[in-house]
Amino acid sequence: MSMYAVPDRVWAGSQSPIITPDDFRREWFRAFYDPDGFWLDVTRRLIHWQKAPTEGAYGDFHSVKHSPITWFADGRLNVTESCVDRHAEAQPDKVAILWEGDEPGDVRRLTYRELHREVCKTANALAALGLKKGERVILYMGMVPEAAIAMLACARLGAIHSVVFGGFSAEALRDRVRDCEAEMVITQDEGLRGGRVIPLKQVCDEALEGEHGVRKVLVYQRTGNPVGWKPDRDVWWHEAVGGASDERPATPVEAEHPLFILYTSGSTGRPKGVVHTSGGYLTYAAYTHRVVFDLRDDDVYACMADVGWITGHSYIVYGPLANGATTFMFESTPVYPDAGRYWDMVARHKITVFYTAPTAIRALAAHGEGPVKAHDRRSLRVLGTVGEPINPEAWEWYYNVVGEGRCNIVDTWWQTETGGISISPIAPATATKPGAATLPMPGIVPQIVDEQGRVLRGPGQGYLCIAYPWPGQARTVWGDHARFFTTYFSTYDGKYFTGDGCHRDEDGYHWITGRVDDVLNVSGHRMGTAEFEAALVFAEAVAEAAVVGYPHPVKGQGVYAYVVAQPGEVLDTAALDALNAIVRQRIGAHARVDRFQVVPGLPKTRSGKVMRRILRKVAEGRGDELGDTSTLADPEVVEAIRAGYSPG
Ligand code: WT7
Repeated sequence: MSMYAVPDRVWAGSQSPIITPDDFRREWFRAFYDPDGFWLDVTRRLIHWQKAPTEGAYGDFHSVKHSPITWFADGRLNVTESCVDRHAEAQPDKVAILWEGDEPGDVRRLTYRELHREVCKTANALAALGLKKGERVILYMGMVPEAAIAMLACARLGAIHSVVFGGFSAEALRDRVRDCEAEMVITQDEGLRGGRVIPLKQVCDEALEGEHGVRKVLVYQRTGNPVGWKPDRDVWWHEAVGGASDERPATPVEAEHPLFILYTSGSTGRPKGVVHTSGGYLTYAAYTHRVVFDLRDDDVYACMADVGWITGHSYIVYGPLANGATTFMFESTPVYPDAGRYWDMVARHKITVFYTAPTAIRALAAHGEGPVKAHDRRSLRVLGTVGEPINPEAWEWYYNVVGEGRCNIVDTWWQTETGGISISPIAPATATKPGAATLPMPGIVPQIVDEQGRVLRGPGQGYLCIAYPWPGQARTVWGDHARFFTTYFSTYDGKYFTGDGCHRDEDGYHWITGRVDDVLNVSGHRMGTAEFEAALVFAEAVAEAAVVGYPHPVKGQGVYAYVVAQPGEVLDTAALDALNAIVRQRIGAHARVDRFQVVPGLPKTRSGKVMRRILRKVAEGRGDELGDTSTLADPEVVEAIRAGYSPG
């Protein structure tokens, strides 16, 4: 296994306290032995507090059963003062948000002074529409600067935002509006992506049909095409925000006041509203952003995620803005108008730090080196990946072809629930191995456990847990703390269970092997097998369905559905296409079954539990390695499933 040494160069101008491997060891052990002291120190340095905290953490992974863990509980702040006001004062003309629209060269630049103005105006508009501290606002938008402005405007009032990815369907959107009892929705007339329009307002109208809780819908005009309108409910952004005053004092909130809710998929059909709070989350997002990417004052930092996912929250909006960085926002896709789009933007904007997902790297690698080499990439210094394990071939391509062998690669492992990067190289300080997420951040104490929950020492493979609280971790599931506890803390007593498998090598490096629960990771999108199954059995023709993942060369995982027809129904190609239409309608445009297999029944134990292990093996094309199937209620079903498998 090749090991890439840290490049020997001068790390001048870094804002990060971790430049060398020694720095890393010092910081990691400080955080381990004195977590409260360490994080109080970090937060006082990085975050603007109206009342600085003196308390660190309360609670542990036992007491979390009864009450949420807290960090910095006696502090008061408003996150927008850290993300906007202080930079608007210290560096008003620095570009805060650098945006590129769907069409190459359609660029907007918002300085910190302008961002401050826009956030204040929008907060005033929202307040005039009746929004109050603690109320929930759903954002259903594309990648426009106004999405970030809306998030910050909510935060300025102490309102809680919940961004719903613009690919989700009306039904999925309605579920989320209901679950958090949103008072308001912010959307846009239409989104633009890859030359196509996305009917955001129309989907919103469908989702809100018959909903009475939502008082106002604020609509940002992106395309100007006609949209449906409810005059007593709908308000144009340019009318409400345009006329509002550009000053608005920031509402101070307690450190533990929720900043946002973000829905994510788990092992049940119902998405969970993961809750992140103000003080701890912001501290962790800012610290990890600065340290992992070795942030410099003159960086042009570009994360290609969507604000609908946690990566967009922590590493497009909150982390970079808290650090006073120039953060890039991109409306389009990596292949529009062609597979050189990312590198064209790197060249034009002189991007220095570039952060994307392995699925995008694999998709682009399939187009060859031509579209990369056509553009000047000398500005690049750090390359990041996130969202799923990166295979060594894709890693090498990223390193050699994109980075010309001179950029550090940070393979950042984390989750919606961890709030920020948790296991990752630190660009200047960690020697990398292709495919390894390497070492934990300061404050993160990973443990690998076996089936019985015994902690493994040294090299080995098992289930990835985290032993102690850290400031960025989710505090609860909205409206259901019991579910938060059972999902994350009841599998292994006293530990946070990530749901991932992990291998640790002889150098102590962590290699994430993927989910071990019923969560799929398709092109970096997290989806529950149970959500697919619920959508499939919704169809009249389907009696039963079981969904598993299988290795997919570009998407990481593909979706494999076993379906059993209702008596008298025939599931032919047209019927299977219709099933995907239902999946799309119930989940969203990003959800699609890649392969169907019609089966006479599902393999079940005598107690009626579906044996997913068998279904996974067959879907992976390893139906000859099933092992013992004698406990099955109906072994013939397995034979039929094995016989019915056809590769590709
Ligand atoms: C799951 C979390 C974290 C932001 C995006 C996804 C997988 C994430 C890596 C990585 C291997 C990774 C894990 C994790 N994952 N990053 N660098 N290497 N696996 O957030 O939707 O909450 O999904 O993504 O399986 O549990 P998410």
